[in-house]
Amino acid sequence: MNTDVTWFKNAVFYEAHIRSFCDSNGDGKGDLPGLTSKLDYLQELGIDCLWLLPMFPSPLNDDGYDIADYHNIHPDYGTVEDFKTLISEAHARGIRVIADLVLNHTSDQHPWFVESRKSKDNPYRDYYVWSPTDQKYKDARIIFVDTERSNWTLDETTGEYYWHRFYASQPDLNYDNPVVADTMIDVLKYWMDMGIDGFRADAVPYLFEREGTNCENLPETHAYLQRVRRVLDEDYPGAILLGEANQWPWDLRPYFGGDENDPTVPGNEFHMAFHFPVMPRIFKALKLGDATDVLDIMSKTPSIPENCQWCVFLRNHDELTLEMVTTEDRQLMWNLYAPDEQMKLNLGIRRRLAPLLDNDRRKIELANSILFTLPGAPIIYYGDEIGMGDNISLFDRNGVRTPMQWNAEPGAGFSTAKPWAPVIDNNEYGYQKINVAAQQADPRSLWHLMKHFIATRKANPVLGWGSCEFLSPGNNAVLAYLRQTGDAALLAVHNLTDRPQPARFNLPDFAGVTPTDVLTGQEFSPLDSSAALTLQPYQYLWLRLK
Ligand code: NOJ
Repeated sequence: MNTDVTWFKNAVFYEAHIRSFCDSNGDGKGDLPGLTSKLDYLQELGIDCLWLLPMFPSPLNDDGYDIADYHNIHPDYGTVEDFKTLISEAHARGIRVIADLVLNHTSDQHPWFVESRKSKDNPYRDYYVWSPTDQKYKDARIIFVDTERSNWTLDETTGEYYWHRFYASQPDLNYDNPVVADTMIDVLKYWMDMGIDGFRADAVPYLFEREGTNCENLPETHAYLQRVRRVLDEDYPGAILLGEANQWPWDLRPYFGGDENDPTVPGNEFHMAFHFPVMPRIFKALKLGDATDVLDIMSKTPSIPENCQWCVFLRNHDELTLEMVTTEDRQLMWNLYAPDEQMKLNLGIRRRLAPLLDNDRRKIELANSILFTLPGAPIIYYGDEIGMGDNISLFDRNGVRTPMQWNAEPGAGFSTAKPWAPVIDNNEYGYQKINVAAQQADPRSLWHLMKHFIATRKANPVLGWGSCEFLSPGNNAVLAYLRQTGDAALLAVHNLTDRPQPARFNLPDFAGVTPTDVLTGQEFSPLDSSAALTLQPYQYLWLRLK
């Protein structure tokens, strides 16, 4: 495995839900040995780093984001030994593994909370945030708006309220208690010592609460996260922290640390952070055939330290969040992408990539082309590499977490038993038609294209390292940007519509250059100081200029 500490700059990530990936013991639930048995598949696809959704003992009120024991593996998934095997087998294939680190809250079944709620003088009382009234921190928004009415829940035993930013069954830890702050660092070390390569850090904006604020992104939170980073840098060089902060770009910037005015000053907080705001704008651009909003949010995205990276994604295990759009745009996106009420969840849309894009291969390719060329490292959500469908009749976000479709056998090759959630089984997306085996056998499949995108991206490190200049092709229907490092230049061009579109570029620095599409090898005529071309419907080009 490459030992470069900046490995993540040009890495391709893959998000896997253990429960839904592969069931090795025939109980209908995916598990660690099952996932381990599919590492060859991931290696063949070409991914660099696997992100595992929470794998700890949990009552699963929030699918594992409600942890009841930070030091063990959920019995459905296997054992700590199985986990170690997964790590070493992944490493043997050059694949890194990051785990979910849920710092903000525990399950109400966690022994700390079970103790904490017993009495006001219990030694664990102060592990959580208690109050005699529910009137504190009124400026903090509610995140799960469909289910929660307040961030406070009354606990009958002591007559006090406890604080929670998510479900009431997920009480927030109290980071003003130094014992909590220290203990969670010990948790991090415990898993790092097992050989993992870092963490995707869940729900980080909410660690601290302060009256008169919205209780997000507080200085105390950044100070704590920097402390976490120091532990990684000192004891586990090369490990990364990928922050989940669903925030505006200017509020995300501080999560990288360093110096906002000087990208050469190394970041000292997160190595990576998800770029939440650009994601819904890609979908909007595709639907309206207009790049304006993508350009707008990217122009408002501050530069980040050179040793940091954005993480870009199209879909994940949650609803397609519309928190980072205006109220008007949220309604527009719901109108465009959630025609059925059941598709909505909280402030988002609980659908998968292929159904969102009408299962139109051209749009799916285009969206992925944008994903693979924008600044940042791309994440693929399991199943999206074969264009899996969803099931909006399932509870909460389970509709986008259904079993991976490996082949056309009953159980889709996921399990020999009845799967924990039904395998997608309909005319358009059913496992009989949409599955890994069928797509591997078909060189024209989406799977083969995704593999090609990954390989091409990795062969062009300018996509991981390069600057990004958004161009004005004289046509809003075309999204185009120039990625550049000292010795490489790549022009990414996307026609967002189903009609041919003209585009014109001023590229005086590249006059005389013969552009080559690195995806197809096709050569174009040499450039003058300006270049004009007509793009076919939903066409995309990755043009090497240097
Ligand atoms: C963000 C996770 O992605 C989501 O699945 C979870 O429900 C919340 N954080 C709470 O942990």
